[in-house]
Amino acid sequence: MTQDNRAPFVVAHRGASGTRPEHTLAAYELALQEGADGVECDVRLTRDGHLVCLHDRTVDRTSSGTGLVSEMSLDELRDLDFGNNGAPSPVLTLRELITLVLDWRSRPTKLFIETKHPVRYGALVESKVLAELQRYGIAAPASADHSRAVVMSFAATAVWRIRRAAPLLPTVLLGESSRYLGGSAATTVGATAVGPSVKTLREHPELVDRAAAAGRATYCWTVDDPEDVELCAELGVSWIATNHPGRIKKLLDGN
Ligand code: G3P
Ligand code: CA
Repeated sequence: MTQDNRAPFVVAHRGASGTRPEHTLAAYELALQEGADGVECDVRLTRDGHLVCLHDRTVDRTSSGTGLVSEMSLDELRDLDFGNNGAPSPVLTLRELITLVLDWRSRPTKLFIETKHPVRYGALVESKVLAELQRYGIAAPASADHSRAVVMSFAATAVWRIRRAAPLLPTVLLGESSRYLGGSAATTVGATAVGPSVKTLREHPELVDRAAAAGRATYCWTVDDPEDVELCAELGVSWIATNHPGRIKKLLDGN
């Protein structure tokens, strides 16, 4: 994920979630059509061991149903609608999203997978994520730049688990504290990038240079405001996650 004085790569946060319901196939298809360089998703495990692309612990906010994701089977989730009262949209599995990204032939888009913690199934989440990446032959890339997948977490232990089991896979240690991200945590767990919020970066722009000096890239979220895009570009942030990938791509391209 290194780069030399180029504009940040644009990552569609939960797909083009400013326009389409988050984490739906429609949101990811739009992001890819809009030219996103990467797509981000959160993953959770169902009761029967399937990885699904969902942010919250419950389905209450984003679906027609209620309940904890960890207590539902994939079939039960498939009975719900995640279309936010628009076109009906079923739950998206990580496997379906990987397939979409790898089959998108027009450009080699990266998939940023975020594991959430603490969760009921603990370390099983990372081992299932790795199993999925291995299944598609993308768990041991030739280099971080060429990797089609990146695994991220706010939980340092989760990043460490990925690093230990798949040392060639790029990882992002997410955080909101500059002291944490600028300290030794990323080195300790072997993260290849740090992921501050845009608020943290505004207050601590030195984080980008500090990461670069340690050989790490910077991934900043969630960058929707043009002034923040400009800040990230000036600082040399490698990746910016946005809910509006089409708009931000145009901005960076000078259109
Ligand atoms: O891309 C990182 C960002 O998604 C972290 O925050 O709450 O949107 O998962 P959250
Ligand atoms: Ca996320």
